[in-house]
Amino acid sequence: MRVGVLTGGGDCPGLNAVIRAVVRKGEVSYQDEFVGFLDGWRGVIEERTTPLDVERCRGILPRGGTILGTSRTNPYKVDGGVTNALHTLRSQRIDALVAIGGEDTLGVANKLAAEGVSIVGVPKTIDNDLAATEVTFGFHTAVQIAMEAIDRLHTTAESHDRVIVCEVMGRHAGWIATYAGIAGGAAEVLVPEEPFDIDEICRNLKARHAKGPFASIVVVAEGAVPAEGTMAVVSREVDQFGHVRLGGISNQLAEEIEARTGYETRVTILGHVQRGGTPTAFDRVLATRFGIAAIDAVHDRAFGQMVALQADTIVRVPLADALASLKTVDPELLHGVAEVFYG
Ligand code: F6P
Repeated sequence: MRVGVLTGGGDCPGLNAVIRAVVRKGEVSYQDEFVGFLDGWRGVIEERTTPLDVERCRGILPRGGTILGTSRTNPYKVDGGVTNALHTLRSQRIDALVAIGGEDTLGVANKLAAEGVSIVGVPKTIDNDLAATEVTFGFHTAVQIAMEAIDRLHTTAESHDRVIVCEVMGRHAGWIATYAGIAGGAAEVLVPEEPFDIDEICRNLKARHAKGPFASIVVVAEGAVPAEGTMAVVSREVDQFGHVRLGGISNQLAEEIEARTGYETRVTILGHVQRGGTPTAFDRVLATRFGIAAIDAVHDRAFGQMVALQADTIVRVPLADALASLKTVDPELLHGVAEVFYG
C-alpha cells in the first residue's frame, strides 16, 4: 500500500518514535511505501511531501519534535481546503493515511473518514486529555520535566522564603499540573477543571508559612481560571480551531498572592520546555506500540478508528468515540492525594 503519514497540532516528545514504528513495520512486514506530509493538514492541502522510509527514520527514536513538521491548520477553515486535500490524496495515490494528532487533528480525520478517506488515527496530546486512551505519549516526559523544575524551584524559594508560582501546560485538563505537583511536593495545585478560590489559596499559604520558613510552590495549569468574580483575567487571541492562546495566568495569580499575603512571590512559566527534547523510556515504548498498532490497523482496513491504550493493551476505538469527551483529572487524585500536602 502507499501510506501517507502526518503529524498535526502541538508537537510532543514521542512523535518521531511513532513515525519510525509505522514506517518500519509497514516497510518490513507489509512492503508499504510511505509519503510524509509536511506540517500536518497544511501539507495535505498544499501537496507538500517528503520521502519517508526506514533509512530516513534512522536515529530519530530519541529525538523530540517531529521530522514531518506540524501546524494547527484546519482544512475545514481554509478556502478550498477540503477539496485540495482530497485532490492531493488522489494525485499522491494514497491508499491510506495515518494521522497522528490530538482532538483537532483527529477531528479533521474523522470528518475526512466520513467523506470516504481511509484514515487511522494515533492519539497525541501532551495534556493527556483524550478520553479513549489511558495515557498519551509525551505526557510522562512533560511531567518529568515539570517535576525536575519544581525540585529546582524549591531550593531557591527556600533560600529566599518565597512563594513561586510555576505554570505548566494543560488547556482543558490539569493532568500535568496534578502529576508534577504531587511528584514535586506542591503547596497548591490549580487545574482548569475546578475554578480556584484565591482566598483559600492565600489562607493555606499563610498557614504554611506561619509554621516556619517553608517555601511554597504553587503549580498552576495554564488553563486554570479563578472562581467567577474573584479575579480579573486577560482575554487572548484565538486560532483556527477556536482555541485561545494561553499562558500567563501565573502572573496575575502571583500579583494577587503577593498583594494578599505580603509574601514575595515569583513566577516561572515552563511553556514549551515541557514539549521539547527527548522522550522518556515510557513514552518511547508507548509511541512505538501505537505506531505498530496503527499500521496493523491500516492493513486490517480498520479505517475511521484510532489506536488507544486501555488496561495496558492497545485497542482500536472509532475516531468519533475517541473525540466524544475529554479526560479530566480524577477529583480523587486532586483532593485525595495532592490536597493532603496543601498548607
Ligand atoms: O494542546 C496542547 C498544548 O500544549 C496546550 O497545553 C497549550 O496551550 C498549547 O498546546 C500550546 O500551543 P502552541 O505550541 O501553539 O503555543
